[in-house]
Amino acid sequence: MMTLLFLSLAVIIAIVVILVSAKFIKAGFDARSEIRDQKQSENLNQEVQDITNENIEESNEQVKIINQIDDLILIVDKFKNIKFFNNSAKKKFGENNLNKHVATLLRVPDLLQNIDLVLLKKETITMDLELSSPSFQFFKVHLFSGPTSYVDDPDSVILFLKDLTDIIKAQRFKSDFVANVSHELKTPLVSIKGFLETISGHAKDDLEAQKKFIPIMLEQADRMESLIKDLLSLSKIELEEHIQPQDKVNLKEVLSNVEDIHQKNLKLFEFKNNIKNDFFIKGDYEKLIEVFSNIIDNSIKYSEKNKKIEVNCGQGNGKVIGDSYTVSIKDNGIGIPTEQLPRITERFFRVDAAKSKKVGGTGLGMAIVKHIVNQHRGELEIKSEAQSGTEIKVHFSKF
Ligand SMILES: Nc1ncnc2c1ncn2[C@@H]1O[C@H](COP(=O)(O)OP(=O)(O)OP(=O)(O)O)[C@@H](O)[C@H]1O
Ligand SMILES: [Mg+2]
Repeated sequence: MMTLLFLSLAVIIAIVVILVSAKFIKAGFDARSEIRDQKQSENLNQEVQDITNENIEESNEQVKIINQIDDLILIVDKFKNIKFFNNSAKKKFGENNLNKHVATLLRVPDLLQNIDLVLLKKETITMDLELSSPSFQFFKVHLFSGPTSYVDDPDSVILFLKDLTDIIKAQRFKSDFVANVSHELKTPLVSIKGFLETISGHAKDDLEAQKKFIPIMLEQADRMESLIKDLLSLSKIELEEHIQPQDKVNLKEVLSNVEDIHQKNLKLFEFKNNIKNDFFIKGDYEKLIEVFSNIIDNSIKYSEKNKKIEVNCGQGNGKVIGDSYTVSIKDNGIGIPTEQLPRITERFFRVDAAKSKKVGGTGLGMAIVKHIVNQHRGELEIKSEAQSGTEIKVHFSKF
């Protein structure tokens, strides 16, 4: 009986032990799997975090890149309102253009039409975009359909503007230049040829006609020669523009030499050279003669006889870095209209081509002046008013 009692007690204890240990084992299992689950979820979170960080880093990287490129990037929504623009676009169009209509920056009907086309057909379009105001600008524009990581809207259009202004300007300048040179050379050549045909043809024995035509032909040949001389001088200066002349040159001597060169013409004006002291600058004597010879020549050509032409020199008052001297040449001539002033140093530019031609001008003088002054790291300042006169100041670094 006792043995039976012991046996059944042992069985109960064993069952309890098994049950308790099973519970513990399960709890341990649960705990382990919980830890595993937790670990897994932590890993997953970490992975998600890593991917997100990568994305952020990637998109930060992308933003960094697109903010550093020179090309302009704008993204517009379906209403053509600007939703994104990179740094270059900001620099070009200003800071506060977000949400403004793209036409407030680029009022070009073709561009607006192409944005509609991209929205409709989801195709990429490439177009040329030329602006004339405030100054000439030329862009190659690529239009793509959204969405992007910047604007998460499928109905958005990315405008990628490649600025080709300098290249197109250079191309047009080259062809304009060739056209101008050919035209300027052709005119005197045609007239010389015409006179030669006359005096070798029906006026072969007409001494009077020959006496009349030969000086005109010589004048035209001189004109061609001076044009070629100016062109050669201009291209030589351009080649040397990066080398600043270093000789010690006295501006008093330069201006006195220029006065001698133009003495015959200056006699017809009320000319005053007020430079009495020495003013030494860093420069090239011959080139400085060319600068002031061109400026004085203009004062003579574009002023009526007996008008005042005055030359002065003193302490520099321009933007040249360091100590400087300033030469001023002031006339009371026909002046230059304000709106034409920025163009005076362009090659072949003449305010009144007919008038300039009559006085023998080809429009290269001030272009030469500008390049020589640049080469000297000086500054050219032109003040003028139509009908009342012109003052040209040139600032140079002291020697
Ligand atoms: N002092 C001045 N007064 C009035 N107009 C001027 C003066 N200087 C220059 N200009 C204007 O600027 C234009 C350009 O001058 P620039 O010296 O380059 O050419 P140009 O005198 O016509 O020809 P070039 O000097 O080659 O013989 C002139 O045609 C003239 O219209
Ligand atoms: Mg001139």
